[in-house]
Amino acid sequence: MPLRVDMCMFVSGVLLCSFSGVLSGFSSVTDQQHTVSLSGKWSLSNSNGSLSLPAEVPGCVHSALQQQGFIQDPYFRFNDVSYRWIAFDNWTYTTTFNLCVFCINRSKQKVLLVFDGVDTVASIQLNGVSVGKTDNMFRRYDLSVRDLLTDGDNVLKVSFSSPVLYASERRKAHSAYRVPPECPPDVQKGECHVNFIRKEQSSFSWDWGPSFPTMGLWKGVRLEAFDVLQLIQVSSVPLYSTVSQWRVQVQLLVDAVQTTNGQITLSIPELDSEQTVQTKFLSGKTKNSFTLHINTSSQVKQWWPNGHGDQPFYQLTENNSGEGFKVYFRTVELVQEPVVGSPGLSFYFRINGKPIFLKGSNWIPAHSFQDQVSPAVNLLQSAVDANMNALRVWGGGVYEQDLFYSICDEMGIMVWQDFMFACAMYPTEDDFIQTVREEVSQQVQRLKSHPSVIIWSGNNENEAALATDWFSIPVSQRPLYRKDYVTLYVNNVRAIVREEDESRPFLVSSPTNGAESEQEGWVAANPYDPLYGDTHFYSYFLDCWDWRTFPRTRFASEYGFQSWPSFSTLQPVSIKADWSYNSSFSSHRQHHENGNQQMLLQAALHFNLPNATDPLKRFTDTLYITQVTQAQCVKTQTEFYRRSQSEIIEGKGRTMGALYWQLNDIWQAPSWSSIEFGGKWKMLHYFAQSFFAAVLPVAFEDDDALLIYAISDLSHDLKLRVSAYSWADLDPVCTLKSDLLLVPGGSAAAIFKQPVAALLAGCGRCTRLTCLLTFHLEDSSGQQGPTNHHFLSSPKDAQGLQKPNITDATGYTVTLHSASVAPFVWLDVGNVPGRFSSNGFLMVSRNMTVGFEAWRPTSVAELSRSLTVTSLADVY
Ligand SMILES: *[C@@H]1O[C@H](CO)[C@@H](O)[C@H](O)[C@H]1NC(C)=O
Ligand SMILES: *[C@@H]1O[C@H](CO)[C@@H](O)[C@H](O)[C@H]1NC(C)=O
Ligand SMILES: *[C@@H]1O[C@H](CO)[C@@H](O)[C@H](O)[C@H]1NC(C)=O
Ligand SMILES: *[C@@H]1O[C@H](CO)[C@@H](O)[C@H](O)[C@H]1NC(C)=O
Ligand SMILES: *[C@@H]1O[C@H](CO)[C@@H](O)[C@H](O)[C@H]1NC(C)=O
Ligand SMILES: *[C@@H]1O[C@H](CO)[C@@H](O)[C@H](O)[C@H]1NC(C)=O
Ligand SMILES: *[C@@H]1O[C@H](CO)[C@@H](O)[C@H](O)[C@H]1NC(C)=O
Ligand SMILES: *[C@@H]1O[C@H](CO)[C@@H](O)[C@H](O)[C@H]1NC(C)=O
Ligand SMILES: *[C@@H]1O[C@H](CO)[C@@H](O)[C@H](O)[C@H]1NC(C)=O
Repeated sequence: MPLRVDMCMFVSGVLLCSFSGVLSGFSSVTDQQHTVSLSGKWSLSNSNGSLSLPAEVPGCVHSALQQQGFIQDPYFRFNDVSYRWIAFDNWTYTTTFNLCVFCINRSKQKVLLVFDGVDTVASIQLNGVSVGKTDNMFRRYDLSVRDLLTDGDNVLKVSFSSPVLYASERRKAHSAYRVPPECPPDVQKGECHVNFIRKEQSSFSWDWGPSFPTMGLWKGVRLEAFDVLQLIQVSSVPLYSTVSQWRVQVQLLVDAVQTTNGQITLSIPELDSEQTVQTKFLSGKTKNSFTLHINTSSQVKQWWPNGHGDQPFYQLTENNSGEGFKVYFRTVELVQEPVVGSPGLSFYFRINGKPIFLKGSNWIPAHSFQDQVSPAVNLLQSAVDANMNALRVWGGGVYEQDLFYSICDEMGIMVWQDFMFACAMYPTEDDFIQTVREEVSQQVQRLKSHPSVIIWSGNNENEAALATDWFSIPVSQRPLYRKDYVTLYVNNVRAIVREEDESRPFLVSSPTNGAESEQEGWVAANPYDPLYGDTHFYSYFLDCWDWRTFPRTRFASEYGFQSWPSFSTLQPVSIKADWSYNSSFSSHRQHHENGNQQMLLQAALHFNLPNATDPLKRFTDTLYITQVTQAQCVKTQTEFYRRSQSEIIEGKGRTMGALYWQLNDIWQAPSWSSIEFGGKWKMLHYFAQSFFAAVLPVAFEDDDALLIYAISDLSHDLKLRVSAYSWADLDPVCTLKSDLLLVPGGSAAAIFKQPVAALLAGCGRCTRLTCLLTFHLEDSSGQQGPTNHHFLSSPKDAQGLQKPNITDATGYTVTLHSASVAPFVWLDVGNVPGRFSSNGFLMVSRNMTVGFEAWRPTSVAELSRSLTVTSLADVY
């Protein structure tokens, strides 16, 4: 029986429609009460009933136990190991709800019980009847429950099985061949076989994170009742072609009780574009796609990445009413084409037709317990404040919440979105593939409206794991694993993405050789080839101050060095006995084999290691020196990538991306992050603010010559000014100036070249050991970009480096006075959240004023009390 849709509008993301015609008076979808949340207080118990407690939904077992005082802070000291039992037990969540109280009308044609996220393996019972099973944390489940509801109390039970036991059973059932890795390295103190369960892969431990295999309803639960149809997802994807210009593909995913016809008027009033379309919703879950052509006489404002322009949007509305839906216009291409002077292929992103260098980092889950994640806005703002324009949402975590992507849209952060597979082989049984297919299709539908998402990527490092044989797979068996690889990522993940979203590129893996990997049957002989695709590169023992150790890749999507978080971050999860670099706590928190030793070895290449007799000072000095080392290493590597953007040397170069590993932390521990758990910036993050600046001079030595490159994201006429300082003095020994050079937008060009010996000779009193260089770019309006520096020797060999006698006056601004050059000056206000306007800097002036932006109310007294100032010589 045909229906006529009179009106549809979005109310808080739900499409409400009213209908007329033969079924007039039928008020189903306009009934504002048709969605009822079942989130809130539930009860929770373990399998033998020894524990029974209230539990918040959304939430997880660990959070509930902690909130009710059954366990301490799971992050405290060794609690990750002490609380291992939680993930081996089975847990049941129960709630009772009364339909009359909630006003759900069960005479409606269809009543769905909707779970937005179930972590992970559970069976669901309503009033004693089994209504469904779940096995995938990354998808929504809809269960049809109309006929099971009663007018009185309804009892809903969700019984979770231990994810660890489940993974191990799935492993046993997969007897034909192993699917490695079996277990994480011992140093991670984690659980085995996480690749057999569709759950956050790092929840069984990672080399930067603890093992907390969570269980629970981690997203909302609700009832939805309707007579005609329910809207599951709306998406809008702008597409551009030079012939037809812009058009917006609008897709409605609905669940209809019966075949329903109607019409909707879509419009973007601001662009004078309007279209009335016929809808035909077949019974069941169906997708309807409509195309809204943008009036060609309209000038469409485009969304740009941070630093390249604004992020304007338009409202798409139905019948010019309702809240509407944000539509951002931008195009993205991943360009892989022959490169003059090179045997390989380029690999860069073109946004709105403009090649853009991606500057940023990698994102991991912000907490082991997703219900305790504070809004991502602070971390994302910190990314933007460090001049980043891109983040990679890494494939061992979770598909982030809607708000994360909305903030990225608003801030101009480009997102490289992995699918959640990492560092492993995966099974390809039918039920596994089926649940993955549903996951991929739901996630693409949910996220494809976001302009911030510029690429989908099938997995993290699995092509490399296969190609370079991480798991010692016998040669004779490799074809089997390759076949599984292609089945999962190419024939399923990629096929679904291509069908759902033609607006952005898809890569099968990262790192990969991209088009070249495809040529080689999707698994390249060497996925790390610098001539193709992206690269992940780590080297802890080679001297990180030597740029020759880094691959001149097309795109660096992972690279990094570890450091320790600051003392104020460790203090709440440790006790006095833990405060030494050699303590069992310090080795417990280190999940990367030999990581603590590697940091010191790398530090010792250029710095004296702290040796204070006071144990606490020695510990905090060591934390400081690891941060100095990390900041300097990642700076050197990132500057190398940025200055390689315009060059081809021996076929290599045209580097168009630098995403260091990693932005954030999941707990208080040593890791590759630039931001500590809780949001405090490490020295690296302050360095990133400079090394990702839009205009930047970069110095390096090659064959005894000092070269300085001018890098500019936007076109500039620039001149360089170089000053040499003696370590012992604050008046420059000499100053040099270059000629004016036009640096086109998005390029790096040599602006200065001189043999170091000649430079020093020309400078009179300088030697490599007594002097260092500072330099900056300027144009007619003054200095452009930050002042950078170049050490002519390791600071440990420097002559004349002295305790600078930095004194400070405090307030919300700190004024520092120094009597000599002070490297790596570090201001710390302990646990007062906030950040300095600059930190970790080289001080070459007598006075310097630094501001502090507090993230909660504080006072001058609290800040002065908390402030410490450290520079390199203070830790020797
Ligand atoms: C919505 O648009 C359709 C098609 O243009 C029209 O028939 C209908 O009356 C409109 N409804 C409202 C409430 O404006
Ligand atoms: C019930 O389970 C808890 C947690 O697994 C365990 O510590 C306890 O010993 C068990 N009690 C009984 C009576 O089996
Ligand atoms: C948890 O459930 C599994 C079956 O799903 C069972 O094998 C196991 O013994 C249960 N664990 C406990 C502690 O009851
Ligand atoms: C429930 O819906 C039916 C049909 O849609 C209607 O007749 C009835 O009045 C509704 N009851 C309540 C309590 O809203
Ligand atoms: C396009 O815009 C022009 C100028 O505002 C307007 O006259 C015309 O009706 C619009 N066309 C459509 C299809 O909306
Ligand atoms: C760690 O312990 C060893 C042996 O006691 C000692 O030599 C070393 O200096 C200590 N390192 C630090 C950083 O405290
Ligand atoms: C610490 O090391 C510095 C230089 O590395 C040295 O001059 C100093 O004597 C050492 N101090 C102690 C207490 O070992
Ligand atoms: C450090 O600087 C302060 C203020 O400039 C001065 O009063 C003090 O004497 C200096 N101390 C040393 C040891 O040089
Ligand atoms: C630096 O600070 C000192 C002490 O506050 C002051 O006397 C001096 O004038 C300042 N110098 C400059 C260049 O601002």
